[in-house]
Amino acid sequence: MLFAALVSSLLAVGVSADVNPGEIPGLIENFKNADLGAFVGGDKFLPEGLLTGRFGTIDWTVGANLTVNETSAFPSFFVNPTAGSTAFNSSNVYSAILVDAGVAGSNETTQTLHWLINTIHVNTTGGSPYALAYLNGTTITEYAGPNPPANVGPHRYVLGLFNQPADFVAPTAYSQKNTPVGPFNLTDYLTQSKLGAMVAANYFTVQNGIVPSTVPTTTAVASSTLSGFTGAAPIPTAAGAEGGGTATNGTGDAAASSAAATSSTGGALGVFAPGTALVLAAAGAAALF
Ligand SMILES: *[C@@H]1O[C@H](CO)[C@@H](O)[C@H](O)[C@H]1NC(C)=O
Ligand SMILES: *[C@@H]1O[C@H](CO)[C@@H](O)[C@H](O)[C@H]1NC(C)=O
Ligand SMILES: *[C@@H]1O[C@H](CO)[C@@H](O)[C@H](O)[C@H]1NC(C)=O
Ligand SMILES: *[C@@H]1O[C@H](CO)[C@@H](O)[C@H](O)[C@H]1NC(C)=O
Ligand SMILES: *[C@@H]1O[C@H](CO)[C@@H](O)[C@H](O)[C@H]1NC(C)=O
Ligand SMILES: *[C@@H]1O[C@H](CO)[C@@H](O)[C@H](O)[C@H]1NC(C)=O
Ligand SMILES: *[C@@H]1O[C@H](CO)[C@@H](O)[C@H](O)[C@H]1NC(C)=O
Ligand SMILES: *[C@@H]1O[C@H](CO)[C@@H](O)[C@H](O)[C@H]1NC(C)=O
Repeated sequence: MLFAALVSSLLAVGVSADVNPGEIPGLIENFKNADLGAFVGGDKFLPEGLLTGRFGTIDWTVGANLTVNETSAFPSFFVNPTAGSTAFNSSNVYSAILVDAGVAGSNETTQTLHWLINTIHVNTTGGSPYALAYLNGTTITEYAGPNPPANVGPHRYVLGLFNQPADFVAPTAYSQKNTPVGPFNLTDYLTQSKLGAMVAANYFTVQNGIVPSTVPTTTAVASSTLSGFTGAAPIPTAAGAEGGGTATNGTGDAAASSAAATSSTGGALGVFAPGTALVLAAAGAAALF
């Protein structure tokens, strides 16, 4: 909550949008806290920035709770690089992948693909945050707004920006435009495609209907309480929200999600005390990549 409050106040005044490197441990803790530890456990999880965005007038912050309605239309996405990062420049090529990682309170290993676009750039004109630039991109799966099953609890949607190396090759099943939303194996995809590191990441949750008492919600970890944090993360300013271009359109279709409800009771995690040493290693679950 403190985190959200700080972000809001910064948004109001408008600030430069490089984020403090201390945000990355915060991002990792929030992933783990949401039982998304498998995403951050591997040696290709090397974020040097936060992905944020704007769904209409709604800002997407770390682990934000959004609604089906808010997320139905294709948003603006941005990279907020950590100060000093060299991972983002206008000549580098990236892929963006959005997956539904299933319902909160489960360590899902399957994903549902909701958006896949290759060969995109970041728009560094005017400084950070850098809008994702789709001008020369190839959309494989059009953005499909979340539509999780009703009354199962919040589903978690993970967006990753991956380095796309010169020897990238789209796997056959994901080489054609209009590839529909459907089950996805991120581990396999990354291996087959030869995509590089996930250099920016974030997730949001969307819940449809009520949360059954058996499903825990994901409690946000305040980055400001973590060791290494010396400033709040800015999110895109109104001016920054305008660059980027749109080569893909958000049809906001009612894509079915494959995940089922679970009765797991895992989840809750206390807020870290200031000065607590962070262990950035895998959460214990096998890493996806
Ligand atoms: C969804 O959003 C539209 C506008 O985009 C609004 O008219 C409608 O009332 C919203 N529905 C709900 C259930 O909030
Ligand atoms: C752009 O970034 C990529 C990835 O970090 C790096 O390999 C490349 O050398 C950079 N290019 C320039 C011109 O800075
Ligand atoms: C995804 O693919 C990997 C590698 O082939 C496999 O080990 C894993 O079981 C698959 N995951 C699922 C959920 O099928
Ligand atoms: C897109 O492609 C055109 C034509 O090949 C090129 O001139 C332009 O620089 C590219 N834009 C980006 C952002 O890569
Ligand atoms: C999302 O909602 C849950 C349940 O109300 C809450 O615990 C959590 O802090 C919220 N997350 C964010 C990022 O606001
Ligand atoms: C990059 O952003 C600038 C504004 O900062 C905008 O004028 C320009 O059109 C954008 N370029 C692309 C390719 O979207
Ligand atoms: C947006 O995408 C949908 C589904 O792929 C397509 O039917 C529609 O024509 C597209 N609209 C525009 C304006 O490109
Ligand atoms: C997910 O895996 C982590 C690490 O093994 C574990 O601590 C956590 O309890 C698991 N969560 C659930 C809901 O099983």
